[in-house]
Order: sequence, then C-alpha cells, then structure tokens
Amino acid sequence: MKGRILEILKEADDTVSGETIGSRLGISRVSVFKHIQKLREYGYDIPSAPAGYRLLYEPDILFPWGFPGRETRIHYFRELESTMDAARDLARNGCPGFTVVIAETQTRGRGRLKRIWHSGDGGLYFTMVIRPQIPLALCWQINFAASLALAKILSSEYGIEARLKWPNDVLFKGKKIAGMLSEVEAEADALTYINVGLGVNVNNDISPVEDTAVSIKAILGKTVSRQRLLSAYLDALEKRLDEGRLHETIPEWKRFSATLHRPVRIQTLQETVKGIAEDVDEDGALVLRFKDGSKRRILYGDCFHR
Ligand code: BTN
Repeated sequence: MKGRILEILKEADDTVSGETIGSRLGISRVSVFKHIQKLREYGYDIPSAPAGYRLLYEPDILFPWGFPGRETRIHYFRELESTMDAARDLARNGCPGFTVVIAETQTRGRGRLKRIWHSGDGGLYFTMVIRPQIPLALCWQINFAASLALAKILSSEYGIEARLKWPNDVLFKGKKIAGMLSEVEAEADALTYINVGLGVNVNNDISPVEDTAVSIKAILGKTVSRQRLLSAYLDALEKRLDEGRLHETIPEWKRFSATLHRPVRIQTLQETVKGIAEDVDEDGALVLRFKDGSKRRILYGDCFHR
C-alpha cells in the first residue's frame, strides 16, 4: 500500500487529498494518514496542507515498496551477516524466483576465494535467488549474464565506461566497482536454484588502502539513487533471463571484457598461473596461452591483470 501511495504522489507531482488517494486505493482517509505517518517515520518528507499531501523527498532506502511489482519478493534488512545466508534459507524454503535479499550493511560479507567483502553504509549488497530451467552444467551462464547486465546499465544509464574482468568483476579504469559471488544447489543434473550475490560500490566511501576499488559516487562526483540503480538492474536481468537468450551472453560479455588479450595472473586456492588471456570459451572458461604456446582452460580462480 505504501508503494502505491508513493506512486500516486509522484505521478501527481502536486498536492493530492487523502480522500482522492483513499478512493483510488479503496481504503479510508484514516488509513491513508496512517501509512503517510509511517512513511514520514522512515524519512519521507510528505508535508500536509489543507488540500492534501505532497511528496518532497524520498530517502534512498531499499524498502520493498520502492520496487513496484516486486514488493513481495524483496526482503530488506538494515543489517545482516551476509545476504547469501538469508537468500539460501529462503531458497531452501521454496521462495519464488527473483526473490531478492538486500542489506544496508553486512557484518560478515563474503567475497570470492574466502575473502571478506567490506560492506559499509552507502553500498549496494544483495543476493538474488534465481531459478532458471537449465541444466546444472550451464549455470555459469547466469553469472556472466548478471555481470554483463550490470556493466550495460552502468554504461547506458550512467555513462560509466564499465568493463568486465573474468570471471565476473565490474571495473572502471581497472578499479573494481562491483564483485559477484554465487552459490548453487541442484538435484541430480537439474539446477534447483542459483543465488547470485552482488556487492556494488555505489555511495560508500572506499578506504584509501583499497586503491583497487572505486565507487560510482567517486566516478560521477555525486551520489546516485541505489533504488533506481537496483530497480533498473533487476528489470534488465530478469528480462534477459526470461528471453532465454543465454547462449548469446558470452559473445556480448567479450565485447565488454577488460581481460581478453592481456597478460594475467590466475590465482586459485591451490596454485598461481601466468599467461595471456586469449579467449573465454563457450563454457565460460578462460583460455590461457603460455610462453611456450601451450594453452589451458581455467574454470575457476581470481584473475589479476598484469
Ligand atoms: C568478490 O568480488 O569477491 C565477490 C563479492 C561479493 C559480495 C556480495 S555483497 C552481497 C553478497 N553477500 C555477501 O556476503 N557477498 C555478496
């Protein structure tokens, strides 16, 4: 209901009476007033005048009602240990596809290869529960589609020249804007769910020691609405997955790649290898070429551009 009240106020861009809002939504004026009171408590500036209510300011908080059409699938938390854990519980309990768990901050944010993901105020930390009808062997395509969708939104909506580092980092001028982690469960060969978690440096301050990361705020010189970014991103990714053109992901991903044709170092939990990143094949593997001309497909690891 709060989302619909906000929609009416935004649409009007002027004062709207409690009676008008109530009759459009089939609720009483008193009920409208109570919802508006709650919204004010959350930081929305909605002054009342004799003629009704007007929306002057919306805080950039990722409440479910900020995502019309998705409200029941958005789970918003002020703080979590990790959105990955909450999403796993929801997925195991049968939540619908494209359920999204969002946290303002995480106390144990996880990165790839057992690293910590610092999750301070102003960033975007979320995990999507995705239930594609594809065999387990193809689930990596979802990760590539998810990082590609973010790079495309940053480029088309924000004018940021975002590039992709294998496997799924989003970079700007070599510095990391976003990282991705995924977890999968399957029964036999059928994927039950793939949970894709993204940490995006939006309005958070990056500590000077992390000189390999950058925020959208620092790139653009102003804060941006995380709600607008996440909304555009979820719409774009869901559309992409619904269209079922997953096989087109890798060729498009390659066009955004910052990794191809450069010397790289790949680190896994077991070893480090160096070579030239020659290709990303149709299985999402990075094809490395070594000095002696031999090649090797790398399926998992962290990539460092040299
Ligand atoms: C990486 O680049 O190492 C992956 C970082 C992934 C961080 C996100 S933040 C939301 C979700 N919850 C976590 O604990 N991790 C992912």
